[in-house]
Amino acid sequence: ESVVPFHGKHQSGITTRVQQHLYFASFDMTSTATREDLKSLLADWTDAAARLTQGREVTTEGATGGGPYKPPDDTGEALGLEPNALTITFGFGPTLFAADRFGLEKKRPKELVELPSFAFELLEDRFSGGDLCIQACADDPQVAVHAIRNLSRIAFGRAQVRWTQLGYGRTSTTSKSQSTPRNLFGFKDGTANVFSNDDSDLATWVWADGSDQPWLAGGSFLVARKIQMLIESWDRVRLEEQEAIVGRDKGRGAPLSGGSEFTEPDFDVVSTAARGPAIPMDSHVRLAHPTQNGGARMLRRGYNYVEGNNDLGQLNAGLFFLAFVRSPEQFVGVQRSLAKDSLNEYIRHIGSAIFAVPGGIRAGESIGSGLF
Ligand code: HEM
Repeated sequence: ESVVPFHGKHQSGITTRVQQHLYFASFDMTSTATREDLKSLLADWTDAAARLTQGREVTTEGATGGGPYKPPDDTGEALGLEPNALTITFGFGPTLFAADRFGLEKKRPKELVELPSFAFELLEDRFSGGDLCIQACADDPQVAVHAIRNLSRIAFGRAQVRWTQLGYGRTSTTSKSQSTPRNLFGFKDGTANVFSNDDSDLATWVWADGSDQPWLAGGSFLVARKIQMLIESWDRVRLEEQEAIVGRDKGRGAPLSGGSEFTEPDFDVVSTAARGPAIPMDSHVRLAHPTQNGGARMLRRGYNYVEGNNDLGQLNAGLFFLAFVRSPEQFVGVQRSLAKDSLNEYIRHIGSAIFAVPGGIRAGESIGSGLF
């Protein structure tokens, strides 16, 4: 599946089989941008995204067809590359709907508000927020980077990049036919995800149908969290304790209550060796599990990141956590439960953003046209 359809009931890049690479960008509208600018930007982005995801250049003139006397429309670095399952997914941040900006106050879904603060987070402005976002995922990093680069160029004068995040190595899966990948702590990640064939879970926990805004039908909310992982400290923890912190076995990903990777965790099993519950009370999987959170589930679609080293020579690395939810409350509830998570000693949330992701479109329509 090297070409993913851009048009459809839902935007692609949510239930789509998770690609290997991510380039994510958050944008702010420029201070002088008007409502017309926003409308035209979304129309231009839609046209470009429809072309790029089919493996075409950003305009018909593209990288070499526009004659020698002007800069090419397309930057050219994806010439000769396959589409690599590129998906481009758009979202709108709460600030886009602020009064006195684009006249969209009445179009803001009531759930689209800034996330509350959580225990242990150390958020930085330079990794947080944004009026608009674009998630580009592909099996080749150059294809994802090319997409964001060209969409940023199109935005010139109307919107500018606020922050971006490069991710390599998916930490999630949306289909059991895909193997479960591992995060930088070496554990299988994505085992208990919402899968693309779980229609009833998708309807209950992912698609934001029935929101107060008709334009959000078929859409979702996207929570993005940049989570630094304290790799060197983690690497000095003995295996038994790593497994107790996660609540799963490191090799196979099976719950510590027994069975294999996809066996449902049994939180009542007692372990004599652990002198307590086999899946400890403060383990990540126990606290994040639906039974501890009023049934809440989420479609996780995060990526590993590594950004060199800090002044102490430690890795600047972590998880760029992305979750699609029917309502941000699902994330808020689970993240509050995780205040007791023993994983907190080894991670720090340093960036945060929330976006409403509109539903998919038919050919000829523009993303977000329901806003105007
Ligand atoms: C499960 C790691 C952050 C929500 C898991 C699993 C691992 C893991 C290894 C078990 C395999 C699986 O079912 O996917 C991590 C790491 C994190 C992190 C290393 C930070 C760097 C978060 C955050 C949330 C979250 C911020 C949401 C607020 C979940 C959920 C599950 C899960 C809902 C599935 C639990 C279940 O149903 O059994 N995580 N996670 N995780 N995690 Fe995380």
